[in-house]
Amino acid sequence: MDDLREKYVSLIAAAADESTLEDLRVQAVGKKGEISLQMRSLGKMSAEERQLAGPKLNALKDEINSALAAKKTALGDAALDERLRGEWLDVTLPARQRAMGSIHPISQVTEEVTAILADLGFSVAEGPQIESDWYNFDALNIPGHHPARAEMDTFYTHRAEGDERPPHVLRTHTSPVQIRHMEAHGAPCRIICPGRVYRADYDQTHTPMFNQVEGLAIDKDTSMANLKWTLEEFFTAFFGTNVKTRFRASHFPFTEPSAEVDIQCQWKDGSVVVGEGDDWLEVLGSGMVHPKVLQAGGIDPAEWQGFAFGMGIDRMAMLKYGIPDLRAFFDSDLRWLRHYGFASLQQPNLATGL
Ligand code: PHE
Repeated sequence: MDDLREKYVSLIAAAADESTLEDLRVQAVGKKGEISLQMRSLGKMSAEERQLAGPKLNALKDEINSALAAKKTALGDAALDERLRGEWLDVTLPARQRAMGSIHPISQVTEEVTAILADLGFSVAEGPQIESDWYNFDALNIPGHHPARAEMDTFYTHRAEGDERPPHVLRTHTSPVQIRHMEAHGAPCRIICPGRVYRADYDQTHTPMFNQVEGLAIDKDTSMANLKWTLEEFFTAFFGTNVKTRFRASHFPFTEPSAEVDIQCQWKDGSVVVGEGDDWLEVLGSGMVHPKVLQAGGIDPAEWQGFAFGMGIDRMAMLKYGIPDLRAFFDSDLRWLRHYGFASLQQPNLATGL
């Protein structure tokens, strides 16, 4: 009996899995198991023998049963432990970042510009990006032979074979909207026109598509002084600091007199800071609307006069947010813009902050 105990105790201890354990159970205490058979043989014993062997066999049976149960629990625990180890998750790891949509810097600057000029009484006008030769050039006093046509590196569309009319163009500036607005609404007026314009040009400071905002104010006695005040108010609000302007005599076919406008700036460690220092940076073209342009728009130049300006929005965004290369606006990955402190890229916020 002691041999039996030793045999099963060590076999049970060595059992590697539950099916081995089950085999052992059947072998030992199953119906035809070794211990069960011995119990059955009790019947053939004498009363004394049985009295001695009975309790011992019962105790052995109990001992083996509880050894089997204990081993079964141990095997189950081990299996669970193993699974837990295999499926271990570090719930303290930071969650995966979700990409956040946000407004494009050009759109944001367009909104900022529009909001400031709206405060100064300018409403928004729009015109087509595919423009006729007339609106883009002739009506603006840029006749066919004029060098400005060549300078503007124009994209032309195709006409059908045999169609002799001048081709349409991708507008090279937002100035054609001046004519369209005059035609439709007459004088007086005070409008801006933000929008895309196109020129066949591509380098660090030029892209084939860029954005301008046109300004046009017409009234009985509108003057260059009004233009200068308007622009200084605008730049001061836009850059959030006092900005002086410098007007340099220039030439545009559609304005007379014409001026190129510089803003006060300073170069610091290779980048430009607006609104302080002794340097000047050219930012827009402007002037008094040419009488021929008023006429082309159906407005009597003897009665009305006005100023106009055209400014690059991309340039404004670069200056305000210190972006070095215009082509960056077309980069599919805008994350780098955060580096330049573009607040709207950190929090999706449509407000202009004005
Ligand atoms: N249209 C001019 C340009 O694109 C800018 C301009 C607009 C100049 C209005 C004078 C008046 O360069």
